[in-house]
Amino acid sequence: MKTLPLSSILLLYALPTHGVEVFVHMMPWFETKETNNGTWGQHWTMANRNPDNIVDGVPEIASFYHPEIGPYASSDPDVIDWQMGIMKAAGISGIFLDWPGTTDAFDYPKNKENAEAIIEGTKRNGLKFAVVYEDNNLNLASVPDKIAQGVADMEYLKSNYFAEDNYYRVKDAPLLLDFGPQALHDNEWDQVLEPLEPGTTFVSLWNQGQQAGNFVEGEFAWVWADYVDSLIVWYANRNVSVKIGVTYPGFHAFYGEGGWPGPMFYIEYGVETFTRTWEMALNNTEIIQICTWNDYGEGTVIEPTLEYGTQFVDIIQQSTGSQYTPEDFEELTNIYFMKKKHVDNPSMLDRLRRQHHAIVRRFD
Ligand SMILES: *[C@@H]1O[C@H](CO)[C@@H](O)[C@H](O)[C@H]1NC(C)=O
Ligand SMILES: *[C@@H]1O[C@H](CO)[C@@H](O)[C@H](O)[C@H]1NC(C)=O
Ligand SMILES: *[C@@H]1O[C@H](CO)[C@@H](O)[C@H](O)[C@H]1NC(C)=O
Repeated sequence: MKTLPLSSILLLYALPTHGVEVFVHMMPWFETKETNNGTWGQHWTMANRNPDNIVDGVPEIASFYHPEIGPYASSDPDVIDWQMGIMKAAGISGIFLDWPGTTDAFDYPKNKENAEAIIEGTKRNGLKFAVVYEDNNLNLASVPDKIAQGVADMEYLKSNYFAEDNYYRVKDAPLLLDFGPQALHDNEWDQVLEPLEPGTTFVSLWNQGQQAGNFVEGEFAWVWADYVDSLIVWYANRNVSVKIGVTYPGFHAFYGEGGWPGPMFYIEYGVETFTRTWEMALNNTEIIQICTWNDYGEGTVIEPTLEYGTQFVDIIQQSTGSQYTPEDFEELTNIYFMKKKHVDNPSMLDRLRRQHHAIVRRFD
């Protein structure tokens, strides 16, 4: 399979998605020197890398894969428009946004600010969004009263995000995903979600719904060490009302090299893994979460990279029956680079923004 040219892979996997909604899991945690007080953000460096060094012709980041547009700041509207333009042209419905909560610790406040810049981007580009709450942050930040902080986080979501027109709703309520449970369990979730009810469709990680209290309505699958084994069982047997499938290109984490703790299992990265998990998800679920758009550290990226170009988004574009073409990816990327080239030319920037807008709204 690996030796087939991309075009034959596209033919093989050009399955119609018939109404399936495709979302990408997005990380809001990248910083450049410009946005981070003169030092590259930790998700580009981990413990020991420096993007200012050019190694084998590419910036030395804590990843085996390199963004096509170079290491970026998650809050940069030009970056966000590029990312969302590519998503739009691929036929992706929107993002499931990794969300740190409102705890004031580590880089969480910056990640939350970035998340909000990204949410603005979803509105500009005609995409939907939903939040993936990182309840483990309550552990990592040693929050003394986890329930009170959880309640504050949920109230924040309710007042600030859930009422947005483009917040993604399932079963008539805003979808809320939790990347766990990891910090809150069982009736702690009931206390935390109480202020939202009725009014959210709450889902946990796969096979963990029984730890997520009474309000939980479903689960989402994720990448795991045994590759498709658990996934086959979960798709076939797990009986939950909202079931969100997963697709990923592999798992090739940089933690070992980068000197950070983290899972070190390996799943071969490339179109073969992607198409297998994509086809399984299409066969089994109506909502698919792609894991991930841009987790460079864990090596699950489908965003265009120097190494893989648009291979993953090409497959999605074919499969979703998007009316866009691969040339649109190219044009969106050219517009991004032109914006960076003409940062000091407001009339040029204005023209480029209008060009971008015309592309992403072409079929709305
Ligand atoms: C930014 O860097 C300056 C000089 O290194 C330092 O004095 C300041 O406290 C830093 N600010 C933040 C928000 O980290
Ligand atoms: C799935 O769960 C629902 C609700 O608990 C139940 O009515 C249904 O029979 C179950 N289906 C299977 C295949 O177990
Ligand atoms: C998806 O379903 C089709 C039709 O039932 C089947 O031929 C194919 O093997 C399935 N693909 C995967 C990856 O399970």
